[in-house]
Amino acid sequence: MSISHVDLNALADKYGTPLYLYDQNAMEDKIDAYLDNFVSDRFETQVLYASKAFSCKGMIQLVKQKGMSLDVVSGGELFVAQQVGFDMKKVYFHGNNKSADEIEFALSLDVSTIVVDNYQELLLVDKLAKQLGKKIKVLFRLNIGVDAHTHKYISTALFESKFGMMPDSKAFADCMSYFSDNTNVVFDGIHCHIGSQVFEINAYKLAIDKMVDIISQWSKPLTLNIGGGFGVRYTDEDKPIDTAELCKMLIDYVHKALDDKKVKINKLLIEPGRSIVGEAGSTIYTVGFTKQIPTKSFYFVDGGMTDNIRPALYQAKYDCDVVGKQNEPKTNKVTIAGKCCESGDLIIEDVMLPDAQSGDRIVVYTTGAYGYSMSSNYNKATTPAVVFVKDGNAKVVIKRQTYQDLVANDVDDEWSKL
Ligand SMILES: Cc1ncc(COP(=O)(O)O)c(C=O)c1O
Repeated sequence: MSISHVDLNALADKYGTPLYLYDQNAMEDKIDAYLDNFVSDRFETQVLYASKAFSCKGMIQLVKQKGMSLDVVSGGELFVAQQVGFDMKKVYFHGNNKSADEIEFALSLDVSTIVVDNYQELLLVDKLAKQLGKKIKVLFRLNIGVDAHTHKYISTALFESKFGMMPDSKAFADCMSYFSDNTNVVFDGIHCHIGSQVFEINAYKLAIDKMVDIISQWSKPLTLNIGGGFGVRYTDEDKPIDTAELCKMLIDYVHKALDDKKVKINKLLIEPGRSIVGEAGSTIYTVGFTKQIPTKSFYFVDGGMTDNIRPALYQAKYDCDVVGKQNEPKTNKVTIAGKCCESGDLIIEDVMLPDAQSGDRIVVYTTGAYGYSMSSNYNKATTPAVVFVKDGNAKVVIKRQTYQDLVANDVDDEWSKL
């Protein structure tokens, strides 16, 4: 059983398990599909990789080579971009509670744009930009009240959401009346992100209608950022839209909405994260013990919620195979459980699989987004290595953590009087 001509058992033997692995060809194909199809003859387009889905130097280097733009949400993600010499003119800085240090860091690197979440942030960005003698473009994150019909933890534009400002709110009105010749912030447009793992093109159409309606208030052509969240296939229940088709539909719909309202924009942005890395990633585990209780059978694996919190956090579903037994009859209904001290530490519940023994490897598919990036050291688990595979070759992009790494920041400091 192999991915990009690399045998999964051989990978597990060489690098150990749990192991995150990414098919580089699959990521490159996705990126190409976005860059080739998200184009318009009427305005500039930019595809931003939402680096929160999976960020490390190897990944951001790939994004850089491909000529994509980047969405970062923290000083840490920005630092990774800086480390690989990412063109800061292609970096957009998001987040609902950026610290002054993070904003200063972004300003000092001359990022393209700060996506401002609230009025207090606008004041802080302007103050810091003045202090540093910088001018900075800002987009405003708007909460446009579109239900993306996804899990409530990844629905981000319902009116109760913590993100952004409502278009008719006092906060947004205050932001809009703030700009003058004396401000160091420059109004460049508006942003929304309706949620993640979204399959309904109609949700995006509704969002585009609302955003174009809002942007029609200004005569100057602005930037419109319609976010990311494009759904991927975790199980057969998920029916993602082909990326090329999705891009064309979005562009056509934006053209239509602009025509209807007689509005012009300068630039259109999208921010896919999951759909670039999700399906390209898999996790290989080794089965330890197996257990039968009257109501269930378990295959215990050597990772769990520490390398994939999504099932415990929002009941995310996955598919898997027993490596080398993928063509055997799937006769056993089993639950793949991790090794953490939490009853919710279940990677997949009640999945049909062939008989597996201790030492067999299990590959869980579509773990490339929000797996490594949400991993933790709970129970002092070490974070698995990350390996990229391509055309029969493999390379480590993140080393497995060691026990020593787990105590590297622990210190036995002297007490000091405060
Ligand atoms: C503002 C913003 N843009 C883009 C994304 C990426 O979403 P996805 O990885 O589902 O494409 C997110 C995800 O949380 C987000 O909050």
